[in-house]
Amino acid sequence: MTGVKGLNALVTGGGRGIGAAIAAALSRAGAHVTVLGRSEASLAARVAAGDASAYFIADISDRAAFAGVMRRIVADRGIDILVNNAGAALSASFLKTDMAQFQFMLDINLMGPVIAAQEVLPGMIDRGFGRIVNIASTASLKGYSYVSAYVAAKHALLGVTRSMALETARTGVTVNAVCPGFTDTDLVSASIETIVARTGRTAEQARAELAKSNPMGRLVSPVEVADAVCWLAGRETGAVTGTALPVAGGEQ
Ligand SMILES: NC(=O)c1ccc[n+]([C@@H]2O[C@H](COP(=O)([O-])OP(=O)(O)OC[C@H]3O[C@@H](n4cnc5c(N)ncnc54)[C@H](OP(=O)(O)O)[C@@H]3O)[C@@H](O)[C@H]2O)c1
Repeated sequence: MTGVKGLNALVTGGGRGIGAAIAAALSRAGAHVTVLGRSEASLAARVAAGDASAYFIADISDRAAFAGVMRRIVADRGIDILVNNAGAALSASFLKTDMAQFQFMLDINLMGPVIAAQEVLPGMIDRGFGRIVNIASTASLKGYSYVSAYVAAKHALLGVTRSMALETARTGVTVNAVCPGFTDTDLVSASIETIVARTGRTAEQARAELAKSNPMGRLVSPVEVADAVCWLAGRETGAVTGTALPVAGGEQ
């Protein structure tokens, strides 16, 4: 078999935004997709739409509870493809970002993916095949103002991706990061609302400001990120590991 056909995939944060597009793309390509998140309504909607075959509810920032749910998923079905997509961004100046906010960004954007990977990896190694795709960010590759805690957590996620890739290089498991630029989802809508509230700009001006960082002058679409994930998740990309693949219109 080729591509992702017949493989079991888990997409965290698969209920909406980039995760929903990834779940849909993997399902269309023939994978059996499980989605996970906090909002039952959006997860159930993905199953109803045929973009996933099952869902689990978990808050990935609650380490013990999330690890417990991951153990249930792994016991229920071997996971061949883990897409660590669930994430969140807080914006504030560095001096106004308190320790709890730094910890929150690390819990969601770093420890969540680490917990999920630690639960799925032993089974992947036993079966001699696995694909872990971490949804990192261009914020894993460069700094941005007013999101230092998010940038720190996303840099750390790329670091752990690279180390895991080296440790698993002879096992049939690959570990990669996809690094989207500003992508048209709720996360960017929230950033636009923050810019409007803090600067008095209109939503259109704020959106144009974000789009300007992409040399193509537009936001990335979730489907474009999903296509990159599908490629990395497929059987044919066994030699691709430890990479950070930007989907960002050429943003450096
Ligand atoms: N949009 C961008 O511009 C952009 C750019 C680069 C990277 N990214 C990354 O791409 C990923 C997806 O972002 P998005 O833009 O699609 O964001 P989004 O539209 O805000 O969706 C976030 C997803 O993560 C889930 N999630 C958030 N906190 C969670 C928690 N504590 N426990 C479990 N699930 C949680 C949400 O599900 P529930 O609400 O059901 O919990 C939702 O499905 C994130 O890792 C983000 O950092 C986004």
